[in-house]
Amino acid sequence: MYENIKFEVKDAIGYITIDRPKALNALNEDVLNELYDAFSKVEADEAVRCVILTGEGKAFVAGADIAQMSQMNALEGRNMMILGHKLMNYMEAIEKPIIAAVNGFALGGGCELSMACDIRIASTKAKFGQPEVGLGIIPGFGGTQRLSRLVGKGMAKYLIMTANMIGADEAYRIGLVEQIAEPEALMEAAEKVANTIISKAPIAVATAKAAINHGYDMDMKSASKFEIETFTAAFGSEDKTEGMDAFLNKRAPEFKNK
Ligand code: CAA
Repeated sequence: MYENIKFEVKDAIGYITIDRPKALNALNEDVLNELYDAFSKVEADEAVRCVILTGEGKAFVAGADIAQMSQMNALEGRNMMILGHKLMNYMEAIEKPIIAAVNGFALGGGCELSMACDIRIASTKAKFGQPEVGLGIIPGFGGTQRLSRLVGKGMAKYLIMTANMIGADEAYRIGLVEQIAEPEALMEAAEKVANTIISKAPIAVATAKAAINHGYDMDMKSASKFEIETFTAAFGSEDKTEGMDAFLNKRAPEFKNK
């Protein structure tokens, strides 16, 4: 049903794989639309508790599709960036955690796509960068904003203005990725994190995602208030009763997503 991505659900994990290896999984408008559709399926499917996003071949995603963008006028370019923002804002808004398993190049729109995920796990072969200024443009899928928020303004300016590519170790050092794994162990590492999250209370996990994502862009006072309200929603769940009862009775909790 999809032409540029693969999507399957197994053991509560939704696997989304960008599958355009000949173009290093570059994001054209079709890929962006297919990804949006897959994430909307994930959001609607109660059986899915966590998503792992990865790429086929030697790239995670080598950026927005330069061949397609080279034929666009400014308005068309703008529309494509709007499509990218729509997808990445949606990934941040859905309740389920998304783990990027960054298997190779994550450049330009690919680095931006990884940053719209909740957690990034990189293969030792992964390479990150925002090469846009070398093409006469700037990051347009949220990179100027998400990179600054993840690694700080100084490092974001350094990476964006030089267009330098960095390896997994450096990405880990600056806080762009949360874990590094050998290439053959990448999916296992991502699944381990996914299964750890899946073992926790789903409402609490979703609430934490919302509190962090929304609170981050608020002033501290509003963010504190937002945390109290989201905390209260989790506190009222049946899973809170179960989690605390299980702790007090020294048994494993059985969460019901209620
Ligand atoms: N768009 C379209 N096609 C791309 C692509 C991209 N971003 N990246 C790679 N490809 C294509 C190549 O054109 C090539 O196609 P052909 O075989 O038909 O020639 C194929 O994928 C394989 O690529 P290379 O031969 O270049 O592979 P390599 O191993 O020698 O180099 C690379 C790998 C360093 C990643 C190199 O491909 C590269 O620099 N790619 C472009 C990276 C880039 O500039 N990304 C930013 C795009 S702009 C953007 O993303 C804007 C935004 O913020 C939204």
